[in-house]
Amino acid sequence: MTVKQETYPPIDGRYVSLLWAEAEAAQEIAAMHAALFDPPWEEDSLRNMLIDPGTSALLARVRLRNVGPAAPAGFAISRTAADEAEILTIGVTAPFQRRGIGRRLAQGLLRAVTTLGAKRLFLEVATDNESALGLYRSLNFEEVGRREGYYKRRDGMMADALTLSCDLNQAP
Ligand SMILES: CC(C)(COP(=O)(O)OP(=O)(O)OC[C@H]1O[C@@H](n2cnc3c(N)ncnc32)[C@H](O)[C@@H]1OP(=O)(O)O)[C@@H](O)C(=O)NCCC(=O)NCCS
Repeated sequence: MTVKQETYPPIDGRYVSLLWAEAEAAQEIAAMHAALFDPPWEEDSLRNMLIDPGTSALLARVRLRNVGPAAPAGFAISRTAADEAEILTIGVTAPFQRRGIGRRLAQGLLRAVTTLGAKRLFLEVATDNESALGLYRSLNFEEVGRREGYYKRRDGMMADALTLSCDLNQAP
């Protein structure tokens, strides 16, 4: 989507929907993923992920007016195994960022993996990803590990990866 952020009116929370993402959503999620991450994930890999029974996936859509189709705005995918879960990816497309959609997606996954029996939720995030770090801190994630030089940027710079964890019994 190439529409500039300033062309969007403020989002009315009543028009934001979180939907379970099934395999049919792979193409839509792949397009959003490619706009946010480098390298992007292949549509087929996403489809395989979405049909895995341990996967929980959410798609956010925003209806900009009372009528017309809702625009895809974000996604979040986690995997649960026994009492541990991991957020594999989460993203909100640029025009819809900083409007509370990322928090809704993350909280939706927290609830989903808790229902599946997870007690702790893990994720990895680059040390220079201020927006994601802000989101995770607001949800009580804590640093439990670090991989030095894990991410290589296009300009050749390296960034550490932090492993964060959240005790789902304490989640807000
Ligand atoms: C990280 C991301 C998912 C956040 O989604 P979002 O919808 O923009 O976030 P929200 O509006 O729900 O913000 C929730 C909190 O995150 C933090 N946050 C979000 N954007 C931020 C920014 N640009 N700078 C600092 N903190 C930010 C704030 O604490 C914010 O709470 P506040 O608005 O009450 O201050 C989004 O920025 C994104 O898709 N980034 C690119 C992909 C990515 O990096 N994914 C994470 C990989 S680990």
